Amino acid sequence: MSPLLELKKLTYQAQHKMILDIPEFQIETGEFLGIMGPNGAGKSTLLKVLAFLDQQTSGEILYRGQAIPNGNAPLELRRKFSIALQQSLLLDGTVFDNIAIGLTLRKVSKSIIKEKVEQWMELFAVSHLSKKNALYLSGGEAQRVNLARAMIVEPEILFLDEPFSALDFPTKIRLMEDFKGIIEEAQTTTVFVSHDLMEIHYLTTKLAIIVNGEIKQVGPTPRVLEHPNSSTVSFLNEWKKFYPVAR
Ligand SMILES: Nc1ncnc2c1ncn2[C@@H]1O[C@H](COP(=O)(O)OP(=O)(O)OP(=O)(O)O)[C@@H](O)[C@H]1O
Ligand SMILES: [Mg+2]
Repeated sequence: MSPLLELKKLTYQAQHKMILDIPEFQIETGEFLGIMGPNGAGKSTLLKVLAFLDQQTSGEILYRGQAIPNGNAPLELRRKFSIALQQSLLLDGTVFDNIAIGLTLRKVSKSIIKEKVEQWMELFAVSHLSKKNALYLSGGEAQRVNLARAMIVEPEILFLDEPFSALDFPTKIRLMEDFKGIIEEAQTTTVFVSHDLMEIHYLTTKLAIIVNGEIKQVGPTPRVLEHPNSSTVSFLNEWKKFYPVAR
């Protein structure tokens, strides 16, 4: 069976600089893929290219074995994907309307929108902010709204860029547990960028380490954390000093 998404000879260049150089990479249906790497490694760029929000410079992206034209992914395919960007990019409007937007665009009926938005607001503990303008939220509140907005459309693939980084610790723990349950039940394929080894260890099944735009190691998360290779050992060991979970 073909992978859900596959990259072939993919590069991304900006201002004559190589930002991504990935000869091949696959994302399989149902996996929870973590992506880790230093600042500026190319993680957010990779996520945007995978979600068809940005165009690669060269190479191909295949969806279920079918090459997708660069910069021209069909709307019905893009609608199977959902992304929560590193910067929340919430719109000027209420929290309710921001979370509803994916369903509004899909012309879902008002009564179902109300029901689902209320359900997701409750899960992310933002019900009390329903009528508040999303531009005036705190960083952590905005992240919760951003996650609810991405998940409400029940995507086939969910792309998340450091979605928990601004959450206080109790909220993060609770949300991670809820989130893991939701993802496992819905069997959503998830691509998750994070700097937090605890999140990576708890949530992900596969881990890719990206350094200088190249995927230096990929494999089952416990294996990568326990057996870094010569290209990832210095990066991972820095983290492991502070996170005994991954020793
Ligand atoms: N359009 C662009 N023009 C110029 N440089 C760019 C562009 N897009 C990305 N870059 C550069 O590409 C590199 C990778 O950026 P990216 O945002 O993907 O990193 P990241 O791994 O997500 O980092 P962080 O952990 O800080 O979020 C950076 O050096 C960034 O400055
Ligand atoms: Mg980033």
